[in-house]
Amino acid sequence: MAAERRPEIALVTGAGRGLGFEFVRQWVARGDRVFALARDPEGSKRLQDLRRSRPETVAVLRCDVTSDAGIEAARREVERAAGRLDVVVNNAGTFGGEDETLESLDLDTARRVFDTNTLGPIRVSRAFLPLLRKSPRPRLVHITSGLGSVDDNRSGGHWTYRMSKTALNMASRNLAIELHDRGVVSTVLSPGWVRTDMGGSDAPLSAEEAVAAMIATIDRLETRHSGASLDRFGKPAPA
Ligand SMILES: NC(=O)c1ccc[n+]([C@@H]2O[C@H](COP(=O)([O-])OP(=O)(O)OC[C@H]3O[C@@H](n4cnc5c(N)ncnc54)[C@H](OP(=O)(O)O)[C@@H]3O)[C@@H](O)[C@H]2O)c1
Repeated sequence: MAAERRPEIALVTGAGRGLGFEFVRQWVARGDRVFALARDPEGSKRLQDLRRSRPETVAVLRCDVTSDAGIEAARREVERAAGRLDVVVNNAGTFGGEDETLESLDLDTARRVFDTNTLGPIRVSRAFLPLLRKSPRPRLVHITSGLGSVDDNRSGGHWTYRMSKTALNMASRNLAIELHDRGVVSTVLSPGWVRTDMGGSDAPLSAEEAVAAMIATIDRLETRHSGASLDRFGKPAPA
C-alpha cells in the first residue's frame, strides 16, 4: 500500500488570477495548505470564494512583491499561522511594453518590470527563507519564461520582459549555490505558453494543465535539481 502523502505548506505570489490562482486551487483541492499572496485580494472573487469555502487550508494575504513592508507583514502572518513553509512559488509577474526596440524601450517601464519580475522574487526569497529552512524538504520555485533564454532568442523584441527573466534565472542559480549547504532547492520553472491575461487567448495550454504539470514537477524536486532551469515537466530548459 502506498504511503500517505504528507500535506505541504505552500506560498504563492500573484495568486489573484492566472497561474498563481491555479496553483492555489490545485494545492487546496488535494489537501495542501496555501498562503495566497495577492496585491489586491478583494479584487479576486475566485480567491475570496475559495478562501470562504476552505478557510482551514487557504489564507489570503495582501502583498505587492515590490513592497518590503508588505512582504514583511505577510512573513509575520505566515510565521504566526504556520511556523514553516515547504514551497515558495515566486509567480507574480508583469510583461512590460509591447513592440519594444532600442529606440522605443521605456526605461521607467523596464525598472518597474525588473522590480516585480527580478527583485520581487529576491525580496520574497530572502524574507521567507527562515520559514523554508524549517521544512524537511524546502523548495524555492521561480516562474520564468522561455523568453528569458539568451540561447533561444532568435526573434528579439520583448526587451524588458526577456531581460527581467534572464536576470531571474541568474538570481535562482546564485540562490542555489548560496543555499546548497542548507538543503534549500532553488529552481526556475517555465510553464510553457498558457492562456492567461498575460499569455492571451491564442496560447495552446490551459492554466489547469500547465499548473498540474508544474505541481507534479515541484513534488519531485530534489537537491540535485537546485540551480536548474526546468520546463513544466521537469526536463532541462534553456536559460
Ligand atoms: N502565461 C504564459 O504564457 C506565461 C509563460 C511564461 C511565464 N509566465 C510567467 O508566469 C507567471 C504568472 O503569469 P500569468 O500568465 O498568470 O500572468 P497574469 O495572468 O497576467 O497574472 C499575473 C499575476 O501577477 C500579479 N502581479 C503582477 N505584479 C505584481 C506585484 N508587483 N506584486 C504582486 N503581484 C503582482 C498579478 O496581480 P494583479 O491581479 O494584482 O495584477 C497577477 O496575479 C509570471 O511570472 C509570468 O511571467 C507566464
